[in-house]
Amino acid sequence: MTKVIIPLQDFRAQYESLRDEVAMALASVLERQDFVLGREVKELEEEMARVCGTRHAVACGSGSDALLLALMALDIGPGDEVLAPAFTFFATAAAPARLGARPVFADIDPASFNVSPGSAEKAAAGHARLRAAIPVDLFGQVADLEGIQAALGPGVALVEDAAQAILATRGGRLAGSFGRVGALSFYPTKNLGAMGEAGMLTTGDDELAGRLRRLRVHGEKQRYYHEEIGINSRLDTLQAAVLLVKLRKLEQWTTARECAAERYDRLLVQAGLAEPSATYPTPERPAVVPARTPAAGSRHVYHQYTIRAHERDGLRTALDAGGIRTGLYYPVPLHLQRSFAQFGGRPGDCPEAERAAAEVLSLPMFAEITPEQQQRVVESIAGFYGR
Ligand SMILES: Cc1ncc(COP(=O)(O)O)c(C=O)c1O
Repeated sequence: MTKVIIPLQDFRAQYESLRDEVAMALASVLERQDFVLGREVKELEEEMARVCGTRHAVACGSGSDALLLALMALDIGPGDEVLAPAFTFFATAAAPARLGARPVFADIDPASFNVSPGSAEKAAAGHARLRAAIPVDLFGQVADLEGIQAALGPGVALVEDAAQAILATRGGRLAGSFGRVGALSFYPTKNLGAMGEAGMLTTGDDELAGRLRRLRVHGEKQRYYHEEIGINSRLDTLQAAVLLVKLRKLEQWTTARECAAERYDRLLVQAGLAEPSATYPTPERPAVVPARTPAAGSRHVYHQYTIRAHERDGLRTALDAGGIRTGLYYPVPLHLQRSFAQFGGRPGDCPEAERAAAEVLSLPMFAEITPEQQQRVVESIAGFYGR
């Protein structure tokens, strides 16, 4: 018997609900032949500044470019040190490395998976050339950026990697608004996903915004007059047109994700697989549900619903055999990536990141997921553990 697949994310379901609006938005750009940094890009920038609660938003080619441009605008270069989490997507630490700076890896808090003020302070000790830090709002939950800034001091500029956290809040403040600069990604798998590559920078600093606008077009102030050396990271108008259509649904999709996360929490606890405030899995309680920041005004947008699991790899194989697709974000902590070997990371340097890499498993999560699909996921997990 063929099993009906439950995907990790279901782009087809989302597309079906938007097909006509997307077609019209794309046709409008095609009629105008206005392909790069066109009208919709400007409109998207205005909308995203509002969504993130910042004075400026500057569109660019991808979230990875946003991080690179942010550090370029802060004049980060050879000899500088930049703090980055040991547990995140590669791009966060690749940005400083690309500019000749040295990433300094910080361990994570085991409950939130984010860098904490304490872990940032510990990692920064002895690094006199630390000029910037890139805390990540991992899986859709805002890190304690105010605490991290206080721990590192005013001489360290914060770049908030909010790639996974559009619409998330902490203490009533929106993701993307905490640092000197925020970096967003619209990669297709993100909560607000383009139909290709796209990214955005957010900032409240007028001068920095102007510099970012120049840097994304090869440092040009006026056509063919280059003030400095930038990169080519201009956003396609077609992508902005798609994103404007999807942005109208984002609040509704985010609420649906929150409901789905609550349902997973409830089902996993009811099945005896998890207990609400555990940090690590045990043979008796083999799953750990994601922790939520208790602070008032905080919103987790569940870019991923990531559990910790006892015997994770066996569970993943069994779920896959049963037609349930899961994600592994991330299997290798960054201080142990081969391409960062030059920075001297050793096993044991960031024990929480290393443990998370061995235990995390992201379950199917998308706005359209049904209670029946979630029930099947949890029943399959229970089956693996013989419950
Ligand atoms: C935390 C984080 N930072 C940066 C990026 C880079 O974004 P992009 O894929 O748009 O380059 C991503 C997503 O891929 C991400 O998840």
